[in-house]
Amino acid sequence: MTQELAGKTALVTGAASGIGAATAAELARAGALVVLADIAPPDRTMADIKAAGGVAKAVVCDVSYETSVEELFEAVADWHGRLDIAVNCAGILREGRLLDAPVADFDRIIAVNLRGTYLIGRGAIRLMTASERAAGDTGRMINIASELAYLGREEFSAYCATKAGVLGLTRSWAREFAPGILVNAVAPGPIDTPMLGLDSMSPEWRDKEGDVPLGRVGTPAEIAGTIRYLAGPAASYMTGQTISPNGGAVML
Ligand SMILES: NC(=O)c1ccc[n+]([C@@H]2O[C@H](COP(=O)([O-])OP(=O)(O)OC[C@H]3O[C@@H](n4cnc5c(N)ncnc54)[C@H](O)[C@@H]3O)[C@@H](O)[C@H]2O)c1
Repeated sequence: MTQELAGKTALVTGAASGIGAATAAELARAGALVVLADIAPPDRTMADIKAAGGVAKAVVCDVSYETSVEELFEAVADWHGRLDIAVNCAGILREGRLLDAPVADFDRIIAVNLRGTYLIGRGAIRLMTASERAAGDTGRMINIASELAYLGREEFSAYCATKAGVLGLTRSWAREFAPGILVNAVAPGPIDTPMLGLDSMSPEWRDKEGDVPLGRVGTPAEIAGTIRYLAGPAASYMTGQTISPNGGAVML
């Protein structure tokens, strides 16, 4: 087992489920000390990491509320006094036709996916900037966007707008905080998590989700591997970029 992130402290939001849970486990396997943040208690992720010999701390946090995020960063700072890696993975998806969906749905999606990324990003950069670092040792932020930032999707316009917004935050912060903090995004294609909800889909929709050049939906572990790369030493010349593990759904 390589320990390329040994001694690093990482924060993963959305760590109770899906891509965030797989990412937290992957970073812990690479040796990072991982703070698991989620609106739902991330007990299962915590137990899995501990069973594999990793080190983690769980914090319940709603990323859309400033005070909740402030309490999270107090807990992160109290734990090891520093932050090296932050992964903005918490997110929600709501279907809604523009002419029918309540404005409150739009507001909530923006609050969690975009405002949440902004609040967590701001808190993480503050703590990373205050953390002592050897020359050439850069802080890392990885924001989770989506292939839908590029494609758009009917009846998911609010979600698509948040993910395009996440790319805007990523590129702007990459410029603002270079060279000390590298900020990149991951734009997954369809991934088998509770958010995608393959189990409750009709067979026709399930086929449609897997209708990409690689012929299947992806796994959370495949996204976690991309995030681990962006968090690690091999990505030292990457900032402001978006990596798209999407089965070939979008080719730019
Ligand atoms: N699954 C996919 O097909 C797919 C594709 C592209 C991008 N994404 C993105 O990947 C990220 C992870 O999604 P997933 O598929 O693992 O979904 P998921 O539903 O399995 O996990 C999302 C996690 O975010 C948490 N969360 C929701 N609201 C929160 C809040 N206000 N504060 C803190 N935590 C909150 C949930 O409790 C959950 O644990 C999301 O940003 C999503 O938009 C997913």
